Amino acid sequence: MVEHFPEGEKLVLIAANWKMYKTTVEARAFCAAFTPPPGVDVVLAPPYTALHGVLEAGITVYAQSVHWEDEGAFTGEISAPMLLELGVQGALVGHSERRQYFGETDETVALRAAHALESGLGVIACVGELEAEREQGATEDVLRRQLSVLERHDDLVVAYEPVWAIGTGKTATPDQAQEAHAFIKSLLDVPVLYGGSVKPENAGEILSLPGVDGALVGGASLEAGSFSAICEAASRLAS
Ligand code: PGA
Repeated sequence: MVEHFPEGEKLVLIAANWKMYKTTVEARAFCAAFTPPPGVDVVLAPPYTALHGVLEAGITVYAQSVHWEDEGAFTGEISAPMLLELGVQGALVGHSERRQYFGETDETVALRAAHALESGLGVIACVGELEAEREQGATEDVLRRQLSVLERHDDLVVAYEPVWAIGTGKTATPDQAQEAHAFIKSLLDVPVLYGGSVKPENAGEILSLPGVDGALVGGASLEAGSFSAICEAASRLAS
């Protein structure tokens, strides 16, 4: 993914995390209404069942997770060879909803990320602190712990998603985002996306912050109009 960007140009990667939204029919309708603008690396992460619907449209597709074994008795999981066979180019790992609701730990995130990268998939690894952790002044400790299990790789991108900003309409202030991105980059030299209530109204400001290499967008990525507006804001900055 990163190699799409010639040396010296700002990487702007806008990734859509559709979570458990959209059937294949809905995914196809979105793709019919959406054209990635120039200068922006666009990734859509639909549910597994809609992967092929988005792939047909010629857009870069990531899964929302991936297992660390190629096959085995792991009911409900999907492996890297299965994704690669479809033409999927990468996977999210460690999204806070996986950590919160499905028992994902730093250790399983590490296993998923390492195996996906070894298999030739790109990875967007999600990190971020809970509201209580920020209030306790523990943000850097949490990020350090979450990042300690990841190793730098050309196809690895980190998404900084403060958990209190996901789906809440609250975004980190520019200072908070910039500080967290700089801290992450001091530990791991990879592109860092911001995630958490990114929408057309705030995308330009967030994406222009130093150290912000793109965005991971949830709610505002579900509608082609609002996702296009975010991608257009990125395109203006990239040009
Ligand atoms: P949101 O979700 O944009 O709806 O806050 C972001 C995410 O969960 O990746």
